[in-house]
Amino acid sequence: MSAVLEVKGLTKNYQDTPDSRDILKDISLTVNHGEFICILGPSGCGKTTLIRCIAGFEDYEGEVLVEGKRVKRPDIDRMMIFQDFNQLFPWKTVKKNIQYPLKVNGVKDKDELERIAEENLKLVGLEGKGDLYPHQLSGGMKQRVAIAKGLALKPKIILMDEPFASLDAMTRSKLQNRLLDIKEKEDITVIFITHNIQEALVLGDRILFMSKQGKIKIDTQNTIARPVSPVSEGYGEMWKLFHDALWGEDEDTK
Ligand SMILES: Nc1ncnc2c1ncn2[C@@H]1O[C@H](COP(=O)(O)OP(=O)(O)O)[C@@H](O)[C@H]1O
Ligand SMILES: [Mg+2]
Repeated sequence: MSAVLEVKGLTKNYQDTPDSRDILKDISLTVNHGEFICILGPSGCGKTTLIRCIAGFEDYEGEVLVEGKRVKRPDIDRMMIFQDFNQLFPWKTVKKNIQYPLKVNGVKDKDELERIAEENLKLVGLEGKGDLYPHQLSGGMKQRVAIAKGLALKPKIILMDEPFASLDAMTRSKLQNRLLDIKEKEDITVIFITHNIQEALVLGDRILFMSKQGKIKIDTQNTIARPVSPVSEGYGEMWKLFHDALWGEDEDTK
């Protein structure tokens, strides 16, 4: 397997106050092409900061390399999908939202734009919904459009920052399955942030745990056979590993 992302000695300090601390401390991580990585960790441990550095939104010390090239700014080889339902332009239709970044990046042909929008809407189960406006969509549908928009650019890495955290449990579970289906069909590499252990176990090929000190404390393959459910063999052990790690963090900060 070839590495699509290498993070070497990544340290991040926002330098916003004289006594500001290192949020990320000397993080090193290699992500292989096609991996689906989930990153778990307590609130405030730096998960968002880590993927913002990978996305190119932040400066940093150390190295972040995508296929060997240093990340300096956002680019279409890395797409970020957020928790917020309002990541679409409200004045554009679903289709135009998906097509906008394609147009900005030089896709001019109308038929091609139509085809790409329809193809990606189909992937997220929204075929035929291209002419709706964001206000006509549920939260779950908006997140699916955001995913379609990200996929349409065929990025090398998709960075997802708790994209399903604001959804009800049922919709969340459906979208997890949808994402796993997409992963089966498409050649994608995903880094998915969550603070939900079950979500990490359901989605991740590999699961990382970040501590409050801004370090990766656990980095393990997910050995539970898919489809993962709480009654799957090995689920209890894996769940306990991460549950204890999270509660251990809580003890540390008392
Ligand atoms: N732009 C910023 N400026 C200063 N501090 C920040 C900024 N963004 C995040 N932080 C701080 O960095 C720490 C980690 O935040 P974040 O990466 O959002 O954590 P998580 O996503 O794990 O909840 C927090 O203490 C937060 O207050
Ligand atoms: Mg966060």
